[in-house]
Amino acid sequence: MPDKTDPSVRTRLIAPATRRGRGRRPVSPPVERASTLLNDDPAAMRDGSDGPVYGIEDLSAARELRAVLADLEGAADAWLVPSGLAAVTVPLTALLRPGDEVVTTDALYGPTRRFLNRHLKARGVETTFHAPDTPAADVLAAMTGRTRLLLIESPASLTFELADVPALAAACRARGVLTVMDNTWAAGLAFRPLAHGVDVSVQAVTKYVGGHSDLLMGSIAVADPAVGRPIAETLEDLGWRVSPDDAWLALRGLRTLPLRYAEQARSALAVAEWLQARPEAARVLHPALPGAPGHDLWRRDYAGAASIFGIVMKGGSEAAAHALMSGLELFGLGYSWGGFESLVTHETGQLAFRRSRPALEGELLRLHIGLEAPADLIADLERGLAAWRAVS
Ligand SMILES: Cc1ncc(COP(=O)(O)O)c(C=O)c1O
Repeated sequence: MPDKTDPSVRTRLIAPATRRGRGRRPVSPPVERASTLLNDDPAAMRDGSDGPVYGIEDLSAARELRAVLADLEGAADAWLVPSGLAAVTVPLTALLRPGDEVVTTDALYGPTRRFLNRHLKARGVETTFHAPDTPAADVLAAMTGRTRLLLIESPASLTFELADVPALAAACRARGVLTVMDNTWAAGLAFRPLAHGVDVSVQAVTKYVGGHSDLLMGSIAVADPAVGRPIAETLEDLGWRVSPDDAWLALRGLRTLPLRYAEQARSALAVAEWLQARPEAARVLHPALPGAPGHDLWRRDYAGAASIFGIVMKGGSEAAAHALMSGLELFGLGYSWGGFESLVTHETGQLAFRRSRPALEGELLRLHIGLEAPADLIADLERGLAAWRAVS
């Protein structure tokens, strides 16, 4: 798959590390672990002119991480929160009031759906869900006078349909509806929501930015400071900050993000194409595959693709899906994605939470492709499919 991401991004993620004029120092900023910060000057201690005066303010690694992420997102500012889930829940908390309505996809990441249905509902905010393949015009037509915010997650979790983000963002802005997009799949690289008119771009830094499956973090980016102000105030009010160690790890991951992302995308497409030709698979749900859901929008709007996709099997059962998973030796059984390691999950049960259940030909599995050699992963999948056939 050609990598059409802007090559200058690779430079922009690294250049801040070598910027002159800061004296002798390590390449990466130090991990500053602190609640208390000591000052020499009582006046600076009072007005903060020497920098942060307490550990709840972001310290060096978090500051550099925020600046580099803001540049990646084309944002006026970016904030860090303790998980990708919090990156969605904080802007919604900040921007919604009792009586407001949120419109969003039925294929939302499960815990985000739970936040809408439990936390926000109890505080007077209603949510209307639409099927993930609903055309933009129909999503807009279903909005009411109370619709305050459109929450976009594209591609859809598990089934990978794409939203027409530019059309939705432009129409929402014209009618005063805010847009928040969970852009974890594109990692700020393959798609840049703010450049397409989205108000708030969030991602689970946990996934591709972290890249090593060893931290949880989220980022929230805005182009318009007026949209950012209530978000910054909400973070201040809630008292949330990320750990200095995690900020340091995420910053280290960010330097190599474009290389990992592009390499894993190439491997994932090779594995997806191989699976598509297999008799055990009915369909592979990967937006970069011609004919897959969302492919036309992906070609139009995206500069690359993530390394996660769904496989709809021909029939099967939970026992067969578990046999396939147990037959794999290289794929870890684990729920996340975006790290260096390949993972497999069985997802059929998750579809039960949707109002509009997709008609699938059989069991739904999800693969995340890491940095292993694709030929080895394919050989591993041969083993898994043999175990599937033995049970089916
Ligand atoms: C699309 C999407 N958004 C957000 C998250 C949440 O990230 P975290 O695990 O850091 O809370 C996930 C996690 O799987 C995800 O898939």
